[in-house]
Order: sequence, then C-alpha cells, then structure tokens
Amino acid sequence: MKRGRFITLEGLDGAGKSTSLEAVQGFLADRGVEVLVTREPGGTPFAEKVRGLLLDTREETVDPMAETLLLFAARAQHVGAVIEPALARGQWVVSDRFTDATRAYQGGGRGVDGQAIEALARLVHPGLEPDLTFYLDVPVDQARRRIGGGEPFGEGGEGPGEEGKAAHLDRFERERASFHERVRVAYRALARSAPRVRTVDARLPEDAVARRIVSMLGPFVEEYR
Ligand code: TMP
Repeated sequence: MKRGRFITLEGLDGAGKSTSLEAVQGFLADRGVEVLVTREPGGTPFAEKVRGLLLDTREETVDPMAETLLLFAARAQHVGAVIEPALARGQWVVSDRFTDATRAYQGGGRGVDGQAIEALARLVHPGLEPDLTFYLDVPVDQARRRIGGGEPFGEGGEGPGEEGKAAHLDRFERERASFHERVRVAYRALARSAPRVRTVDARLPEDAVARRIVSMLGPFVEEYR
C-alpha cells in the first residue's frame, strides 16, 4: 500500500483557508484520491476539547509554554489516532493547520523559543512533516476585516464600543494587530526557508485563491500518484 500524502493549509485568521480547503478536497476527490480532511487544534474528540481550552476567551493570561504544550498534546493525539493511520492506509490527509501554525503563532507571535518548538515537534511527530503546505499570505488589516475584527485591536486596545464587535472572536483573533504582524513575519520567513511551502497571494478573492491553489496541486498529484 502506497503511503498517502500530507497537505496543510496555513495563514492568518481571515486569510480565507476554508474556501481553499473545500477546493483542495474536491479537486483530489475528482481525481479519485481518497482524502481525509481535518484540522488543528482538533481532529479527534479529545483534541477538540483541547481546542476549546485554547480558543475560549478567559480572564487568566495563558502562559505561552502552557499554550504550546497544549497544542502539542492535541497534536500527539491527532497524529497518533488520525493522521498516521490515514497516511498508512494510503489516504491523503489535508489539514487546516499543523505545526507551522505553532512556529508562527507561538514562536513568532508569543516569542516561544524556536528550538523548544522544534524539539517538541521531533518528540510528537518524528519524521512527519507535510509533503506540501499552502501558505495564504494576506496583510493583517485585510485579514482582520474578513473576520470582522475591524481595525479596533490596534495598539490602542479595546474601547467599549468595540467589545460588541469582538464578541464572536476567539482568544487568538482578539490579539492585537502587532501580534498578528509577528505571526505573519514568522510565516513568511518559514515559507522562504522551507521548499515544501508554497506562498499564495491571499489578497485576491477567496475563489481566485482557491483556483490558484488547485492549479499548483495538479502537478503534485501527478508526480506522487
Ligand atoms: P482556526 O481558526 O484556523 O481553526 O485556528 C484556530 C486558532 O488557533 C488560530 O487563531 C491559530 C491558533 N493556533 C495556534 O496558535 N497554534 C497552532 O499550532 C494552531 C494549530 C493553531
């Protein structure tokens, strides 16, 4: 049985990953590729519980290392119970985020030591990295408009009129623009250094981004089938 391929989508919140994820799933299914679509944090009942812990807004400030370890705890479960078995069965796995998100959000955004993140990655998923990653690159202000965060989370903080707008936003989406700028810088650096990462200009409308991704996927599918 030929091992499946592992594809991930990455980008800031509001980069428009969902439309592209559906397009990738449809494209692969049309070509007779058995595909499993999943996400992080999450992808198993236990890991989805951890997702709730990570995304729920709370009064208490969460220690960046506690956050990082929870992400890897969820990932250990996800890799062991879902990703590895699927790849071994020959299925292709398409995940909405994986460890690159930790590199960008916890490493870039929170300032967690990159070597610590790489050590955890080696411990939790030795030898496993995506075969192909699409990084949807979008400026922070555009991404924030898409999630309905607007501009108010600049360095000025949140005023009373802005709280209503923020009510639907999760703990990461509520972070200041400067946090998301650091996340973007880290993603772009990663995309430059890792050949498996393809950067897609996500300023375009979501369906145009999805078409671009699918066009890049075609040769990859032919090469590996
Ligand atoms: P999502 O909204 O794209 O499903 O992602 C949930 C949030 O979790 C998103 O704001 C990014 C954040 N996140 C991290 O900070 N580190 C990680 O390793 C992952 C997978 C997600």
